[in-house]
Amino acid sequence: MKAHLFCTLPGMLASPLEAGVLKKARETGALEVFLHDLHELSPDPHRKADDCPYGGGPGMVLRVDVVASALESAFDVDADRVRERMPVVLLTPQGRRLDQDLVRSLADEESIAFICGRYEGVDERIREHLSSLEVSLGDFVLAGGEIAAAAVLEAIARLLPGVLGNVRSLEEESFSGPLLEYPQYTRPASYRGWEVPEVLLSGDHGRVRRWRAEQAVQRTRGRRPDLLAEEGEHEGEE
Ligand code: ADE
Repeated sequence: MKAHLFCTLPGMLASPLEAGVLKKARETGALEVFLHDLHELSPDPHRKADDCPYGGGPGMVLRVDVVASALESAFDVDADRVRERMPVVLLTPQGRRLDQDLVRSLADEESIAFICGRYEGVDERIREHLSSLEVSLGDFVLAGGEIAAAAVLEAIARLLPGVLGNVRSLEEESFSGPLLEYPQYTRPASYRGWEVPEVLLSGDHGRVRRWRAEQAVQRTRGRRPDLLAEEGEHEGEE
């Protein structure tokens, strides 16, 4: 996958890209990342990427001309046609809430462009004419889209072929099915009197499987009953 990130603070993305799963995905060739600095690419003589809002009010707004010319320099087509070639994702708290289904569908794309807002907002014409999808990490406000883009990209990278060694861990983790993951333990079996459940030390694979299945249901019921309700709603559907 090729991921193009358009942002005003590319330095914020440097270390996430050089560690862990994102580093591995880039090293294996599963992921190629292109950082585009909106200041450097700005047509403004002072390399500004933002301006005051028309109509007044606090804060600054990300400029449409800056984003459009950055898209054009990266892809060599009219900015409003980039979204015909790939999803152009605008990171914003107003977007569709990210979930694992959306991550999976983005992971199937050959290329994606991410536009990271900063300032108080983005010029509405970026939404209307340049982006094809708005994504939010949740109902809270970050100071900008860079950290959000890194989070989305990491979630994608771990699904790309060859990046994670253990396919079973992908299948069993929370949100790959309708349930949260069961509790996990590792050595030491006893620590300060905190014990690992006996069943996990029993070597009885059938009991372990049943215990994990029960725990996953209990945990989901306790923490995220909405997931079970959603599942119930789909029961009987083809
Ligand atoms: N930019 C600012 N807040 C955000 C959020 N919650 N999700 C995605 N991008 C953002």
